[in-house]
Amino acid sequence: VFANILQAPDDSILGVTVAYNKDPSPVKVNLGVGAYRTEEGKPLVLNVVRKAEQLLVNNPSGVKEYLPITGLAEFNKLSAKLIFGSESPAIRENRVATVQGLSGTGSLRVGGEFLAKHYFERTIYIPQPTWGNHPKIFTLSGLAVKYYRYYDPATRGLNFHGLLEDLSSAPPGAIVLLHACAHNPTGVDPTLEQWEQIRQLMRSKGLLPFFDSAYQGFASGSLDVDAQSVRMFVADGGECLAAQSYAKNMGLYGERVGALSIVCKSSDVAGRVESQLKLVIRPMYSNPPIHGASIVATILKNSELYNEWTVELKMMADRIISMRRQLFDALSKRGTPGDWSHILKQIGMFTFTGLNSDQVAFMTKEFHIYMTSDGRISMAGLSSRTVPHLADAIHAAVAR
Ligand code: LMR
Repeated sequence: VFANILQAPDDSILGVTVAYNKDPSPVKVNLGVGAYRTEEGKPLVLNVVRKAEQLLVNNPSGVKEYLPITGLAEFNKLSAKLIFGSESPAIRENRVATVQGLSGTGSLRVGGEFLAKHYFERTIYIPQPTWGNHPKIFTLSGLAVKYYRYYDPATRGLNFHGLLEDLSSAPPGAIVLLHACAHNPTGVDPTLEQWEQIRQLMRSKGLLPFFDSAYQGFASGSLDVDAQSVRMFVADGGECLAAQSYAKNMGLYGERVGALSIVCKSSDVAGRVESQLKLVIRPMYSNPPIHGASIVATILKNSELYNEWTVELKMMADRIISMRRQLFDALSKRGTPGDWSHILKQIGMFTFTGLNSDQVAFMTKEFHIYMTSDGRISMAGLSSRTVPHLADAIHAAVAR
């Protein structure tokens, strides 16, 4: 009965790792998936995560019971505080509904399905380009996906004019997906002044912001700085949604831990929203896993561990920033044709190099450098050891 099933294509990001794993070359480098690596090229488990796990193991009351449908209550409260700020009026007024989600993807999906069921405008505008999973998540949630202009290939920066024009012509009430910081894949973020203009435009047109916050603390090294965009939209008293992921900033990739918050106008509305979120979650996966959320809660509620986390987070962010400098210098040293200053200007885990898919294929074939075909490289996968190899590959690719 399954004989006619067609072979599906590999995922555009995770498929890169599959290809990388098959390559026997000793010089291969995986710059595809956005996952942090140490200078030695190894995955990193944060010390603070190890400590939290130790505390959990030693806790005699630790049980493996089902969590409530909405997840670990303590984790939800702490997550909302982390993104909106502990002084947020929305939290104080008890008008935020937060549920635990399966990292960013699961949180976006639950938010998307909730909107498709209960919100009057089922169109979501997502940036062009955006993370490859976004259009699929929202289409399968039951929303109609449209794009707004975001990236300008000529400047390798923001197409702010195009962005404002496209949001101005969106239907009233349309949902708009915004990357809270460290836009994936471009590494291009609006300035604070531009965020303010976006906010004013969106509020004047009644557009609904849906933030994807996958890199809080990871972009600038500061948890507060990286949440500024979200907090601007909450400070004006309006509604918004925010999906959080702890994959990158706590290195909890495979634990699948995240949260979805919906900021409402009143506590009464937030309560009803939460009741409907439960109806979305229960038939999807019943209730979320306990371990990752317990780690996060243990760290966020303990000031010593929290401070230790911020130090480790800054260390990761700084290493990525130093990779930008090293790659830029290596290309300058080789006299690689073109302007590579965007490597320094872009922010977060990724550089959107401007290399085309032919150049990427060449680099993979000849240099065993693995990256997505849109020219995105994960700076977090680079090290001082691999920068020269990458620079050689880029140089050869553009000089062809
Ligand atoms: C990425 O963009 O590489 C990460 O967000 C990982 C993923 O799931 O795609």
